[in-house]
Amino acid sequence: MTRHYNLLLSYTWEYDQEFAERVKIIFNKLGLSVLVFTDNEIESTKTLIESEQISFDAYLDRASDVDERYEPIAILLSKTNTYLINPQKVAEKVIDKGYMHNEALKAGLPLPLSYIIPPLDEQKDYYISENILNDIGKPFVVKPCFHTGGGEGVLKNATHLYDIIQSRGNLPEDSYLIQKKIYPATFFDKRAWFRILWAFGDIYISWWDDERFIYQEITNEEYECLKLSRLEEISRKFSGLCGLDYFSTEAAITESGDIFVIDYVNDQCDFRLKNNHPDGVPEAIVDGFIYSLIKNILKV
Ligand SMILES: Nc1ncnc2c1ncn2[C@@H]1O[C@H](COP(=O)(O)OP(=O)(O)O)[C@@H](O)[C@H]1O
Ligand SMILES: [Mg+2]
Repeated sequence: MTRHYNLLLSYTWEYDQEFAERVKIIFNKLGLSVLVFTDNEIESTKTLIESEQISFDAYLDRASDVDERYEPIAILLSKTNTYLINPQKVAEKVIDKGYMHNEALKAGLPLPLSYIIPPLDEQKDYYISENILNDIGKPFVVKPCFHTGGGEGVLKNATHLYDIIQSRGNLPEDSYLIQKKIYPATFFDKRAWFRILWAFGDIYISWWDDERFIYQEITNEEYECLKLSRLEEISRKFSGLCGLDYFSTEAAITESGDIFVIDYVNDQCDFRLKNNHPDGVPEAIVDGFIYSLIKNILKV
């Protein structure tokens, strides 16, 4: 006999445990079923799937991008009727900042002036003229295209060609984005930097201070006054470009009121709760994400 669950959820990051608990609470409340597994249950889960003892409507994989031991589970489930949320193959392609920069430019999204530099391994003597750097302005930002997440390897205040040369040497197999530095305005006493979460067709926007990593919920007044529906348009366009079920985007508003998109598509969003961590995500957004999954993927 096959035991059927609405959702399978895997995680390997210890801080995803509280997210998994929220999922269980909400699923229980709605009479839905979820099976959660982590490092110690990879093999047993695999055996149960292979022997068709368990089946699922959907799989939320929060692990295989960082731990290849989880990969066989997604492969097995891809041969069933299970809906795979953010398939790794799709995510791998669209989180590349260089790839997405070009796609977003074509789609007319407001991006900071940028140049894409090929990997050192592919083009050792790539020439960047001082004119290009003068166009971009100083200081400028240097960031790896593929090795992303949490600002790792990002130079926020590069001033010299040497900074680019040194960065390229750090990740010789990666392309780099050389980008105009954007200075956000201060509105409502807050740094005008936002994180937009696309969740299965729904959109959740919050202030996200990129220097202190603090989320704050947006009030109706702030939403209206700053015309933040513009951020929803941006998220919707990225959804069309990347095809992921969920992702987050960073954008800033400058003194002139213009929006610039800074970080295009982040696939494995942080769901640590603000109640437990000063830099966590507001509960309303984490819960909203779970309800959006239920509504739009499980169609309940
Ligand atoms: N063009 C930019 N202007 C100003 N700050 C930037 C710019 N690009 C990146 N940053 C800063 O660097 C941080 C990390 O860059 P980001 O593009 O978000 O890459 P990651 O994928 O590592 O999060 C951002 O949150 C922001 O603080
Ligand atoms: Mg970022």
